[in-house]
Amino acid sequence: MRKNRPATRRRTARKSGPTRSMLAAMTALAREARERAQAPYSRFKVGAALKTRTGEIVTGCNIENASYGLSMCAERVAVFKAVSEGLDDFDVVTVVSDSRRLTPPCGPCRQILWEYCGDVLVHMVDMKGRSRTMRLRELLPMPFDGGHL
Ligand code: THU
Repeated sequence: MRKNRPATRRRTARKSGPTRSMLAAMTALAREARERAQAPYSRFKVGAALKTRTGEIVTGCNIENASYGLSMCAERVAVFKAVSEGLDDFDVVTVVSDSRRLTPPCGPCRQILWEYCGDVLVHMVDMKGRSRTMRLRELLPMPFDGGHL
């Protein structure tokens, strides 16, 4: 057996994640954004809040259209708003919906989030305050991106 083995030591620095109060603030903003959702067809309102590492928060809500396929999810609205404002280096996206099951970003949103935000934390919250946080990488385990082109 190897001798002089150092005591168990963390090999990589613990990545500092968002604080509880930051997640609560993001959730409150996403809930407000959800109120602005335009969802007359599905009646399923979603709010999102996207945060940069430096603390800027941009919100989004889903915006539907009579030509259903043109509808846009809350997460993508938040990403496009933020990117168009020149923001980058995102670390957390919060998604709020009123559903029995927590709402994860849909497939196209996962793809867009991956491209513009990387392996962000996805914090899903319902109207009762139940939540779950996952990494985007868990939701999109084998992403297609520019590296494949
Ligand atoms: N929706 C979102 O905005 N985000 C999600 O994560 C899932 C789905 C929207 C799209 C559509 O307006 C409605 O919810 C029903 O699918």
